[in-house]
Amino acid sequence: MPHRVYIQTVGCQMNVLDSELAAADLMQVGYELVHSPREADTILYNTCSVRQHAEDKIYSALGRLKPLKQKRPDLIIGVMGCMAQKDRDAIFRRAPHVDLVVGPGQLGRLPEFIDRVRRGDNLSPLPTDFGPAPGGEPVARAVFQPSKLLEIGLDRASGRRKDISESFKTFNVNRTAAMRSVPHQALVRIAFGCDRFCAYCVVPRVRGPEQNRPAAEIEEEVRRLADGGCLEITLLGQTVNGYRDDSGGATVRLSDLLHRLHEIAGIRRLKFVTNHPNYMTDDLLAAMRDLPKVSPYLHVPAQSGANEILRRMKRGYTVEQYREMLERIREKIPQAAVASDFIVGFCGETEEEFQQTVELVRTARFKNSFIFKYSSRPGTKAAELYADDISEEVKRRRNNELLAVQNAICLEDNQPYLGRTVEILVEGPSKVARKQPPGAATVQLVGRTVHDRIVVFDGPRELIGKIIEVTIEKLDPFTLFGKLL
Ligand code: 5AD
Ligand code: SF4
Repeated sequence: MPHRVYIQTVGCQMNVLDSELAAADLMQVGYELVHSPREADTILYNTCSVRQHAEDKIYSALGRLKPLKQKRPDLIIGVMGCMAQKDRDAIFRRAPHVDLVVGPGQLGRLPEFIDRVRRGDNLSPLPTDFGPAPGGEPVARAVFQPSKLLEIGLDRASGRRKDISESFKTFNVNRTAAMRSVPHQALVRIAFGCDRFCAYCVVPRVRGPEQNRPAAEIEEEVRRLADGGCLEITLLGQTVNGYRDDSGGATVRLSDLLHRLHEIAGIRRLKFVTNHPNYMTDDLLAAMRDLPKVSPYLHVPAQSGANEILRRMKRGYTVEQYREMLERIREKIPQAAVASDFIVGFCGETEEEFQQTVELVRTARFKNSFIFKYSSRPGTKAAELYADDISEEVKRRRNNELLAVQNAICLEDNQPYLGRTVEILVEGPSKVARKQPPGAATVQLVGRTVHDRIVVFDGPRELIGKIIEVTIEKLDPFTLFGKLL
């Protein structure tokens, strides 16, 4: 009987992609992918460290697995991704029933690691005595397999950049259409890691130095995906618009790459996330304007509307520069949808500074804003230099206030869609559809416009993966409700 693996993913699209690659890799050596931890003999969590809350959720989920592991000691439990890189062997202390901890740069060897754990051949030099768990509870190591496996990237301050980079080189496997849960859409990594070191952000530490993939390799991968029926490619990078490949002689920028990918037959839509305001160059905006397959959608996080906060965040721009960038976007691509991220309650944020952020959201009219309460992350500059001095209550109030402003804009900007016919790529069944009978002739489906607007409508499952037209009959701030033509 083949081994059965269950993978749970939290966090960003990088993690979604890593999980897909890990699943494909395990399938290649005979694993079967299952949809509940109870059916699995191997349970993997792909984790995120960007905020404390994401980590807490994983530790609770791991805690809930304890009785299962006690009942079935040969069950393998693994923690991978950003929290694995950040918390290292501390994970074994907090959750002694975890067998392996694998950083993002080591995922390419996951099948081998799981195999080693299964054989009890765990070669990592781990401290033999884990000591008491942080809660003071003694670690009941005898109940569990005594051997643990820890494979992570090198510390960013630990030595030569080349060695550190190498230890974060994320893998790429040859995914076939059968290995991908959504064959018509694909995430493609063009760069990994980050060197910007924004003061609040744990990413440069857990994902390592910035590294750009050679353009020829990306092109080859996109060609293969297109041959497998893929229509939409989303290029991923921590600062995707800063992409530069110098490996082939001439420099290839993101705009050049988009031109090259645009030529690939079969590809209908190209997107890229996430952008940094400082790299929003005119050549990129021109490529977006000139290439019909490139979606007129830009996610460019501002993070704050107050210069003093931006300075302490080490973002590298002022709010005036951010606004100037928005003007350039609107001038070149008038119909572009721009989305942003904001952190509220950053260290020392005054009410007036918060109101400057509200003002930016009010005037910039983002297509949507992802709003987060500041969460202090160990090892970051902000955690080192500034007190996390805004109370949870104030953070929550600012979050809700900003969200209310953004939601009102979303609703207003959705209104003109009423009665209009839009083209969407049908992504799959909606959450509602999961509760509808499996044999039903029509189910609720979800699609997206080129501007990244979500459209739900009733239709046959055969439409999944097709680009079709629907007429908008109803809307709310987040969703357009359509009817098939
Ligand atoms: N606290 C809160 N939000 C954060 N983000 C990144 N780090 C933190 C943090 N420490 C947010 C930023 C980023 C998004 C992915 O997460 O807005 O753009
Ligand atoms: Fe974090 Fe800044 Fe890098 Fe984005 S650019 S991942 S916010 S450090």
